[in-house]
Amino acid sequence: MAISSTRPNTLPALRRLLIVGSGGREHALSWGLRRCPSVDAVWIAPGNGGTSAQQVSIAETDAERLVEHCRTEAIDLVIVGPEAPLAAGLADSLRDAGIAVFGPGADGAQLEASKAWAKQLMQDAGIPTARHWAVSSEADALAVLEQVDSPLVVKADGLAAGKGVTVAESIAETKAAIQEAFGGRFGVAGTQLVLEERLQGPEVSVFALCDGERMELLPPAQDHKRLEEGDRGPNTGGMGAYAPAPLLDQDGLEQVRRIVLEPTVQALRGRGIDYRGVIYAGLMLTDDGPQVIEFNCRFGDPECQTLVPLLGPELALVLQACAHGRLDLAPTLTIDNHCSACIVAAAKGYPTATRTGDAINLSITTDAQLQLFHAGTRRDPSGALVSSGGRVLAVVAQGADFDQAFTAAYGGLEQVHFDGIHYRRDIGHQVRTD
Ligand code: AMP
Ligand code: GLY
Repeated sequence: MAISSTRPNTLPALRRLLIVGSGGREHALSWGLRRCPSVDAVWIAPGNGGTSAQQVSIAETDAERLVEHCRTEAIDLVIVGPEAPLAAGLADSLRDAGIAVFGPGADGAQLEASKAWAKQLMQDAGIPTARHWAVSSEADALAVLEQVDSPLVVKADGLAAGKGVTVAESIAETKAAIQEAFGGRFGVAGTQLVLEERLQGPEVSVFALCDGERMELLPPAQDHKRLEEGDRGPNTGGMGAYAPAPLLDQDGLEQVRRIVLEPTVQALRGRGIDYRGVIYAGLMLTDDGPQVIEFNCRFGDPECQTLVPLLGPELALVLQACAHGRLDLAPTLTIDNHCSACIVAAAKGYPTATRTGDAINLSITTDAQLQLFHAGTRRDPSGALVSSGGRVLAVVAQGADFDQAFTAAYGGLEQVHFDGIHYRRDIGHQVRTD
C-alpha cells in the first residue's frame, strides 16, 4: 500500500469481522475477537473443525471470492492470519476493494517472505542481527564458507514453512546443507540462500501491532520449536509456548522497541511501505544484547493462542485502528496479569510423515481460564471430529503463576484423546518449579 493511503479522522463502526486462515492461531483470534462488545459476527475462512459455526469455505488465497464475501456480508475488518496469502498480496486485493485489513501488503510481507530482503533492511537500519551473506549459487556459497572457515546457519531465502533453516554444527554440515539447498530441497524457496554467523542465547518472540507509524507491543512469549522433550528432535511449527516470558522484562521490551521495532517501521516507511499488521520479531538474547533471528509478518502460532486469552476486549478495536493507520484512536489494550501456558498436541508422524484421519475424542470442559483451540481438525461427513494436520490442537490455560497455568493445561490435555497423540511434557520447563 502506498504511503499516501488514507488515515481517517474517526474509526468507523466495527461489528462484522472476517478472519482468514485455518490454524490454531486463527481459532484463537476468532475466540478472542468475539469477546469484544461491539462485534456481533465473526466469520473464518476456511477455518477448521473447531470453528464450524461461522465457517466460510473459501480458500485463504482466493482473493476474488474473499472480496466478494466481504462485500456481501458488509465486513468491517479482515484479519489475515498466515504468511502465504499476505506474501501473495491478499491484503492488497482487499484494500484495493476498499476493505479495511489487518495484515501487510505483499511489499511489507517481504519481511518474512524474503530473508535476504529482511537482512538488507536490518543492515541499512542498523538493527542488531547476525552477520550474513546472501548468495545465489553453490559456488558463491562455498566460497563464503571457505573464507569464514567456521560453521554457518544456512537459510532458504523464501517461504519454506519453517523448514528452510539448518543450524550447522560443523563446516562439513554447512557444506552439505548448501549443496542440498542448491540441489532443490526447498524448491524455488532455496534458489537463493542466506548464510549467517551462528548466535547463542535463549529465544523469545515479540509482537508489535503496527499502524504504519505507531505500534503497541504484546507481552513477550517463548515458543518451543523442537518436537521432543529436552529441545531435541526436528524443528516444528512450535509445540507449545508461554507468556509473559520473564526473559524480557519491561525494560528489555522497551529496549527491543527502541533498537529493533521502531527502526524497522521507519525503514519500511523509507521504502514507501505503510505496514499495517503484526511485526513478529524472533529474537535471540545474546551476551551482546537482543539480536533479530527472523522477522515474520503475522502472529506466531502457537504464541498467538497463548497470548490472546491475556488480551482485553479492546483487541478488535486495536486491530481495526491499525488497519486504518490510526492506532492513536484506539482504546488502550488491557493485558491480564496472569501467566498463560499452551501445549500443542500433534499427530503421529508429525512433522515428517503426518498421519491424518484419526478420530478425536474430547471430554475437556473449557472455562474462563482453560481454552481448547483446534488446528489440524475437520468434521467428517457424519459430523465427527477427525485429525487433518500435523499440529492437531492446543490446550491453553491461565493461572496466578506458571505452575498453576501448566498444571491446568496438562490436566485439560488428559481429557483429549486420539490415536498417536504426541505432546511434550516439558513445555515451560524454563519457568516451572514443580
Ligand atoms: P528461522 O526460521 O530464521 O527462525 O530459524 C529457525 C531457528 O533456527 C531459529 O528459531 C533458531 O533457533 C535457529 N537460528 C536461526 N538463525 C540462527 C542464528 N543466526 N544463530 C543461531 N541459531 C539460529
Ligand atoms: N511459532 C513460530 C512461528 O509461528 O513461526
